[in-house]
Amino acid sequence: MQEEALQAIQAAPDLESLQAVKTRYVGKSGLVTRELGTLGKLPPEERKARGAEINAVRAAIDAALTEREAALKRAALDARLASEAIDVTLPGLGLPSGGPHLISRILTDLQDIYAGLGYTVVEGNEVEDDQHNFDALNIPWFHPARDLWDTFWLEDGRLLRTHTSPMQVRYMVDHTPPLKIVVPGKVYRYEATDATHESMFHQLEGLVVGERVSMADLKGTIAEMARGLFGPRTQVRFQPSYYPFTEPGADFSVWWENPRGESKWLELGGCGMVHPNVFRAVDDLREAQGQPRVYEGKTGFAFGLGPERIAMLKYGIPDIRYFYANDPKVLAQFRGPLG
Ligand code: DAH
Repeated sequence: MQEEALQAIQAAPDLESLQAVKTRYVGKSGLVTRELGTLGKLPPEERKARGAEINAVRAAIDAALTEREAALKRAALDARLASEAIDVTLPGLGLPSGGPHLISRILTDLQDIYAGLGYTVVEGNEVEDDQHNFDALNIPWFHPARDLWDTFWLEDGRLLRTHTSPMQVRYMVDHTPPLKIVVPGKVYRYEATDATHESMFHQLEGLVVGERVSMADLKGTIAEMARGLFGPRTQVRFQPSYYPFTEPGADFSVWWENPRGESKWLELGGCGMVHPNVFRAVDDLREAQGQPRVYEGKTGFAFGLGPERIAMLKYGIPDIRYFYANDPKVLAQFRGPLG
């Protein structure tokens, strides 16, 4: 019986079947227990030896049960640990990462080009007044740009700047020449949105003021920028144009070849020599603040261009609305190195 019991104990595959074996042999009415109950029927001289024998069997079975139970418990624990194990050497799940917007990258590139030419980068407020956005820039009250349809007016009579040019005025009022600045920033136009018009876009304004600053300096500066943006052999063209704050004024274009081998002149922005009326308006503002007039007799040039337009040309983006629709499929195409 002992042998049988020990074999059954060893063979029990889990705690439940071990419990059954235990009940079968040493439970209340188990085989061993029952055997002990027969002792009383034995003649007294046999009883002691038989009792000792049965108790030895019972002790052997109890010991085997205890040992097997511990072994099964250990095995169950090991199995659970194995099923919950984490492979700490597996690579983690990557978090999708963002990055600077394409327009920010172009503005940064432009700032780097101009910083290399000795320009100071300054920013202005997006909320302006009509004095700086229009009047001081020689844009009179009857100019169409002041029309309800072009300008977002605020209830307090101020406006969202329609261009970065008001910073020309603000910077000159606060500084004396010579000066060289670029002004990156957001601008706003109250107009219907379509593939080439957004109500918010960006500009980079440039202003250089000093002695005998010439149109040749302006052309050299624009050419330098265009080569920095589009490559060292880029051709630049200037055409007469009109801006109230320049005289003469011009538009500039680059000769652009796309990957399909087509090429044409593409307009990048406006520029010109600073209009004497702008210098006069700046000196008036300075005088009103008790500052000396320092701009009369100075010369300077200015330019303004749109990074959205540069991006659309350079990367063949057909619709300006893609920039601010926040579609990750569009934005992610401009995360890596730019061509
Ligand atoms: N402010 C002009 C615009 O928004 C762009 C511009 C043209 C800026 C000529 C200039 C300039 O500084 O000289 O259309």
